Amino acid sequence: MTFFTLNGRSIEVDAGGDTPLLDVLRNHLGLKGTKFGCGLEQCGCCMVLVDGAPEKSCGKALSTVAGKSVLTIEGLGSPEHPHPLQMAFLDEQAGQCGYCLPGILISAKALLDQNPVPTRREIAEALDDNICRCGSHIRILKAVERAAVMLRAGAMRAER
Ligand code: FES
Ligand code: FES
Repeated sequence: MTFFTLNGRSIEVDAGGDTPLLDVLRNHLGLKGTKFGCGLEQCGCCMVLVDGAPEKSCGKALSTVAGKSVLTIEGLGSPEHPHPLQMAFLDEQAGQCGYCLPGILISAKALLDQNPVPTRREIAEALDDNICRCGSHIRILKAVERAAVMLRAGAMRAER
């Protein structure tokens, strides 16, 4: 049994410690938002945050997240309360098939949590491990820039 925090809730999972976290998320817990792409830690489709850091869940054993906090795309926002990143991606229509986007949104969240005013180069570097086969890169970069502006505006409103 492995205990960890998933999207803010404490959970226990009855699976072998060497089971890939991606398998646990999708097939044991039914969270299908995190995608299987290459299975070889090459495409970033399966990105999740582990204690705030982006990690490829296809190559991460369940045992390595014991006692840690995992965030998946399901924990980022909801249709009722979308995260500014999700709103910005919709505004920019950033993506075609959308398969890469859960991983990209997670990597972008990790960046903006650390760096609220990233340059376009810094955004590109933060997304370097995420492949978009549809070639939506320019709109994705614009969407992250838009989300950064939205988040900063929200933070200023909260301070007033
Ligand atoms: S499925 Fe994990 S990096 Fe491609
Ligand atoms: S939108 Fe299709 S892979 Fe990125």
